[in-house]
Amino acid sequence: MNDSPTSARSDAPSIAIDVKGLTKSFSGREVVHDLSMQVKRGEIYGFLGPNGSGKTTTIRILCGLLTPDSGEGSCLGYDIRRDADKIKRKVGYMTQRFSLYQDLSVRENLEFVARLYGMPDARGAARDTIARIGLKGREEQLAGELSGGWKQRLALGACTLPNPQLLLLDEPTAGVDPKARRDFWNEIHALAAEGLTVLVSTHYMDEAERCHEIAYIAYGHLLAHGTVDEVIAKSELSTWLVTGEDFNGLMAELNGKPGVDMVAPFGTSLHVSGRDKAALETAIAPYRGDSKWHWQAGEPSLEDVFIDLMGRSRDNFQG
Ligand SMILES: Nc1ncnc2c1ncn2[C@@H]1O[C@H](COP(=O)(O)OP(=O)(O)OP(=O)(O)O)[C@@H](O)[C@H]1O
Ligand SMILES: [Mg+2]
Repeated sequence: MNDSPTSARSDAPSIAIDVKGLTKSFSGREVVHDLSMQVKRGEIYGFLGPNGSGKTTTIRILCGLLTPDSGEGSCLGYDIRRDADKIKRKVGYMTQRFSLYQDLSVRENLEFVARLYGMPDARGAARDTIARIGLKGREEQLAGELSGGWKQRLALGACTLPNPQLLLLDEPTAGVDPKARRDFWNEIHALAAEGLTVLVSTHYMDEAERCHEIAYIAYGHLLAHGTVDEVIAKSELSTWLVTGEDFNGLMAELNGKPGVDMVAPFGTSLHVSGRDKAALETAIAPYRGDSKWHWQAGEPSLEDVFIDLMGRSRDNFQG
C-alpha cells in the first residue's frame, strides 16, 4: 500500500498539525475541550499552561497514542484517527520523563531505538547521533548515570535518530540547568531550520519567547494563540510599569483595589495591571503624584497575560 499521506500532493503539506474540536474525558471528567490548532511546517510551536491543563493529553492525541472522544484532524497529512501507525513512524516523541533505559549504555539506548525503527545500519545511526549530540567519549556510560542535562541530550538524540518530520517535546527542559537549556534550544532551532516541525510544552516564559508561535491552554481550553507579540496585543490587560522605592508598601496598598487585577514585581519594576483601563487609572491616581515612584504606561509581559488568562479561566470553567 502507498505510504504517502492521503491528502498529500507531490510536495509535503505546509501545515504539519491541523486539528479541530478535539475533546477527551477521563472517567467522565473533560480534560481537553473543543481544542483546535494549526502548526506550520518548520515552525517551533510552544504549548503553555498550568499543571493538569491537558498539554500532555493533547500531545498524545496528536501522535496517535490516544484517541479523542470527538474531533478530527491530521498530523503530517495523516488522519489522527485512522493513520496512527503512520504518524508514529514519522514523529519523535520526548515524553515528560525521558524514557531511556537506565541500565543500558548511551550507545545501547540509541542502537535499540534504531533497531526498533528497523534502520538498516543501527550501529552507524547510533554513532552519528552520538557525534551530533556531543556524547562522544561517553558511549559506554550507563544512561542512568548521566547528569540531567546529558540525559536530556540523549533523549533528544534518541527521538531525532529515526529522522522524524515532527518532534513532540513534553517539558524537555524541566530540571536542567540554564546552560543546558540554552544549548538545547539552540539545537531545537537548528533542527527547525532544517525543516523539522517542533511542538514543545514548557512552563518557562523565556522559552515561550523563543517559539515562532505559542498556544496557552488552561483547564482543557485553548485560550490564546499566535506569536508572542500577538498574544500580548490581544490580551485585554492594561499595564503600568512602576519604578522607584518601597515596592512592598505599594503592592500591599494596590492589591485587591477595585480596578487592579494584578500586581507583580518584574526585575527592577512593578507591573500593575487591570482589565478595565479606566478603573485601573482611577485606582492608581492617588499614587501617581508621589515622588517615590515613576509611573509609565507599558505593555504587560507574557507572564502577566498568562496569569490573567488563568485567573479568568478558573472563574469560567471551574465554577
Ligand atoms: N490516563 C489518564 N487517566 C485519567 N486521568 C488522566 C490520564 N491522563 C491524564 N489525566 C488527567 O487529565 C488532566 C490533564 O492532564 P495532562 O497530563 O494532559 O496535563 P498537563 O497540562 O500535561 O499537565 P503538566 O503541566 O502537569 O504536565 C489531569 O487532571 C490528569 O490527572
Ligand atoms: Mg504534562
